Amino acid sequence: MVKAGLSIENFRAYLPIFVQEVNQYVDKHWTEPEGTVELLQSISEMIIMTASHTLLGPEIRSKLHEGVADLYHTLDSCFTPVHFLFEWLPLPSYYASDRAHAELDSIFGAVIAERRKNSNEKHTDMLDALMASRYKNGEPLSDKHVGNMLIALLMAGQHTSAATTTWALLNLAANPDVVAEARTEVASIMGREIPKSADLPVPSFEDVKGFDTLDRVVRETLRIRSPLVQVMRKVIKPVAVPNTNYVIPAGNYIVASPIISATDSKYYSDPEAWVPSRWTTGEADDTQDKATTDYGFGATTTSARSPTLPFGAGRHRCIGEQFAYLQIKTILYVLLSRFDFELDPKRGMPPRNFNSMVVLPEGPVLCRYKRRSA
Ligand code: HEM
Repeated sequence: MVKAGLSIENFRAYLPIFVQEVNQYVDKHWTEPEGTVELLQSISEMIIMTASHTLLGPEIRSKLHEGVADLYHTLDSCFTPVHFLFEWLPLPSYYASDRAHAELDSIFGAVIAERRKNSNEKHTDMLDALMASRYKNGEPLSDKHVGNMLIALLMAGQHTSAATTTWALLNLAANPDVVAEARTEVASIMGREIPKSADLPVPSFEDVKGFDTLDRVVRETLRIRSPLVQVMRKVIKPVAVPNTNYVIPAGNYIVASPIISATDSKYYSDPEAWVPSRWTTGEADDTQDKATTDYGFGATTTSARSPTLPFGAGRHRCIGEQFAYLQIKTILYVLLSRFDFELDPKRGMPPRNFNSMVVLPEGPVLCRYKRRSA
């Protein structure tokens, strides 16, 4: 159902929005010639604005400041292990989240009703794609289901992409040679010097695809700082654990942690080090199993044999990988064109915070920025 909202045609329409939202954000919040920012917070806001605008549409994006962001935040506060493990506990957070969910339903419902009334107006976003979707029996999705799918997509991509972009930028701040390489490559692909201000050009879908240095930056960041450290499967039929006497009964969950193999010295030299060029040398790329499967949303690598699996594997692997790469690379393109970055000298590279379902850099995530334009 979400395939249509993640098509190349849609991606092309999303690119100017990504650039516009990031420019708007830094022009409003990073106003000094140089300063220190809480990077995770800034990036999280850029992610929610770019994702809401492109997936949920301009109507809901325009309501972000009217409380929608707070409603997301309330839902979000249930994204912790205790909520996953003890769904029957009478926690106040559950009641708050049910109320927030009902409010979001009614906000989305009003936007959907308005769009149905003006059905001749075409929108290139996920909301339109879902409203046009059909179940296998030909029935359309109810408004409630459309709203729920949008919430699920936004939640799936929010912290994962925010954490990845933040870690990527922190590592870039510590590695100016990689920044220089990325800037040279971007200018050569776009065939011009990139202005250091909000006048920078919007890259095409093909341009962003070709930003190989930024691609390796994201790939390497995900290898050592995968935001999801557990992939779960429910046991349907008893599973025998190889080379042991253990059998896991049906009804249990199996949890695998791909971050173990992703930093195993069997596969990677100096495995904890952030070295994007290992994805050019063949070292890292050669470890990945390239076999693809098409489950109906385009052929994609699904093998669980690769040591680095930040997007999971199999039928339920992430469907948002392409969107995430496009969004993260475009955000980095705008930020690196307009600013130089340095780690905060006192805070340095933050440790990981393993307390939430999505592993984030532990706050405060301080980073110094300096405007490149006069
Ligand atoms: C860097 C960013 C992201 C990372 C690291 C990531 C990672 C993952 C992982 C590990 C899974 C579980 C896969 C499994 O169980 O095998 C997953 C599932 C999923 N992701 Fe992402 N994700 C990211 C961004 C996104 C975005 C932007 C979207 C939406 C536009 C999205 C939508 C989904 C959905 C819908 C699922 C559930 C798929 C299913 O159960 O069939 N993700 N993601």
